[in-house]
Amino acid sequence: MTNPTLFPAWKALEAHQAKIGNVTLAELFAGDAERFRNFSIRFGDIVLDYSKNGVTDVTMGLLLGLANEAKLDEARAGLFGGDRVNSTEDRPALHMALRASAAHGGHGLTFKIDGVDVAPVVKAELELMFDFADQIRHGAFKGATGKRIRHIINIGIGGSDLGPALIVDALRPDIGGKLQLDFVSNVDGAHLDAVLAKADPEKTLFIIASKTFTTSETMANARSARKWLAEKLGEAAVDRHFVAVSTNIAAVQEFGIDPTRMFRFWDWVGGRYSLWSAIGLSIIIAVGPNKFRDLLAGAAAMDRHFLEAPLAQNLPVILGLLQVWHRDFCHMSAQAILPYAQDLWRLPAYLQQLEMESNGKSVTRQGTPVTWHTSPVIWGQAGTNGQHAFHQMLHQGSEPVPCDFILVARDRSAFPDQHHMLFANGLAQSAALAFGKSAAAVGAEMKAAGRDAATIAALTPHRTFAGNRPSTTILLPILDPYHLGALIALYEHKVFVAATIWGINPFDQWGVELGKEMANALLAGKGGPADSSTAGLMALYDSYTHRK
Ligand code: F6P
Repeated sequence: MTNPTLFPAWKALEAHQAKIGNVTLAELFAGDAERFRNFSIRFGDIVLDYSKNGVTDVTMGLLLGLANEAKLDEARAGLFGGDRVNSTEDRPALHMALRASAAHGGHGLTFKIDGVDVAPVVKAELELMFDFADQIRHGAFKGATGKRIRHIINIGIGGSDLGPALIVDALRPDIGGKLQLDFVSNVDGAHLDAVLAKADPEKTLFIIASKTFTTSETMANARSARKWLAEKLGEAAVDRHFVAVSTNIAAVQEFGIDPTRMFRFWDWVGGRYSLWSAIGLSIIIAVGPNKFRDLLAGAAAMDRHFLEAPLAQNLPVILGLLQVWHRDFCHMSAQAILPYAQDLWRLPAYLQQLEMESNGKSVTRQGTPVTWHTSPVIWGQAGTNGQHAFHQMLHQGSEPVPCDFILVARDRSAFPDQHHMLFANGLAQSAALAFGKSAAAVGAEMKAAGRDAATIAALTPHRTFAGNRPSTTILLPILDPYHLGALIALYEHKVFVAATIWGINPFDQWGVELGKEMANALLAGKGGPADSSTAGLMALYDSYTHRK
């Protein structure tokens, strides 16, 4: 059965929500002095505190019942067992295999496709990347003019950009001072232009990262970068300054990169799950093989936790079920991601792809329309910047937005004193969202400040906070490679949990195809959209740019 609304637990959750919908977080906390202990779970030293969500024991029991009725355990076994869970593309989704044996300590799991263990090919490719990264890091690999490579420019888009860019920034303290890394993704020439403006061709290495090696944005940027380099250093220099990461050897060769300068991965690694593969080459060059192994180890540990922990103690399961609760039973259409860590500033953008490209679907695995809600809108930015931008709406807007606060206990910056401020702000925001400030408290405060009765009456509605706005807090002891790996894998599996309840395939992305086709048709000047708006704007573009 793929219609979750027909599950008994779904019906029970609807009835339950109608009953407890008016119970406030303040009341829930007042009624249970141990609410933090009772509604937070741990994996090692990572804490998931979900006490500031409008859920009770009954809610969680029903949500876990829903997971059982949706056969989450079977789905999970199929995922880890190498089933072709990406049914529309007839592929397994085995990104966990990339971190199984290669991680420090590994997680001892074996991953097979059609009975063949994938560990040997994964390890072999990783060794090649480690060797190449070490050559760059230690100066053994030099540019065409004999200078050391100091600048890595990754050209890729979507999963071939967002993951590596996120990790490289998040692990900033782990990168040696002399290496500069940049990421170019947008087909807008301004992106490449801005990066090349600060690049020295003799010291620059381009990584062309594309699973398919056909993505038009990436290929356009790659061609322009190649032209730029050839103009500066001559065509013969291209060989020393370009490497490729792909599953498509033929296309890489056709572009002019020798297969000896290519790092491979496989079609069973989805684009948005690929940072653990050769797509992570820029990460390995940045932080070195050992720290990359730590990153893999953190993800591997989370894989094992997801596979083995009881559902009620399972971080990805609880996070996924809370998303279903908010989306389908509380009718909340968005989800904010608020990392209180500047080094995680790219996390919201990364999770936009992971969550929305995976679960932004409106047909089930069987192709029938869904009549329930799937992915919420994912957005956010690093605290405390968001506080001075959109938190107004989080606190007083007309629709509550569940927030994920990602807090980090131990600081790695050169200014640790500021970390207390950062941490206190994160905690204060989640408490303010949950408990608000009553009209009585606002009035009393203004009275004490000597404001007159008319002013108090006029301003009180504006200065009152209703509270009761849900949030979940993920606390990491430190933002190091291991904990970062675990955090990303937590979200990967959370997406799978929600997709399983919703009955959808989280591993395909047909929704991005139509726009690509139409852009190509417009570019070719034939067969573009016939509507008057598109045709009118295209005609104006042509006249403004004197194209015709
Ligand atoms: O946006 C669609 C998409 O296919 C993503 O899933 C993928 O991460 C991105 O394009 C880049 O694809 P490729 O790595 O093949 O260039």
